[in-house]
Amino acid sequence: MTQLPTLVVTGPGGFKTTMKLNERTKFFEPYSKTTYLYLGRYSSVAKAGLYSFLLTSRGKASITLAVGDKEIFGEVLRGAAPTPTPTPTPTPTPTIAGYTLAQVKANNSAKSCWAVVDDYVYDLTKWINSHPGGPGAIVSLCGTDATAAFKAQHQNQAKPAVRLDSYKLGPLKK
Ligand code: HEM
Repeated sequence: MTQLPTLVVTGPGGFKTTMKLNERTKFFEPYSKTTYLYLGRYSSVAKAGLYSFLLTSRGKASITLAVGDKEIFGEVLRGAAPTPTPTPTPTPTPTIAGYTLAQVKANNSAKSCWAVVDDYVYDLTKWINSHPGGPGAIVSLCGTDATAAFKAQHQNQAKPAVRLDSYKLGPLKK
């Protein structure tokens, strides 16, 4: 008993009490899977205000002081909040995604119309007959690198860029 720490609690309105350490009850704390001993418990209705807890150890000791009205499993914070364990990022599997210029060249008709713009491949087949600038403008691009033609007509225009994006197949493989 002479080696046990002392705990003095002070609170609002001149409240002061020295914890009586008159207990030795085992208590399994499931969160840290540790069996502790209750050395003392003090229970009373608190007044609003600041409380301070002065623990004085008389020897080398490892002490847990808990303050609260209930303990919820999984919500115990000891000291600083635990740093979250980083979730391992899966190693990305390298994909050989992309389309070759040869594939683009093979889709060179109104039946299947692919084109390249800025190193991405697009399937414009469905756009041919909806293009406000006429189907001819698109058909002439089928199977080609249409970067220059597209930019000459639609550079810095939002609608053609958004429309083009909706037909994206993937990057051009080089
Ligand atoms: C991948 C290729 C293309 C896409 C996705 C595309 C898309 C579009 C879109 C969305 C519009 C309507 C713009 C708006 O309402 O503000 C438009 C209009 C137009 N496009 Fe294209 N375009 C493409 C290629 C071309 C090319 C190569 C030419 C010319 C050779 C061209 C000529 C025009 C013209 C003249 C208009 C205006 C039509 C009007 O007077 O209403 N387009 N295009």
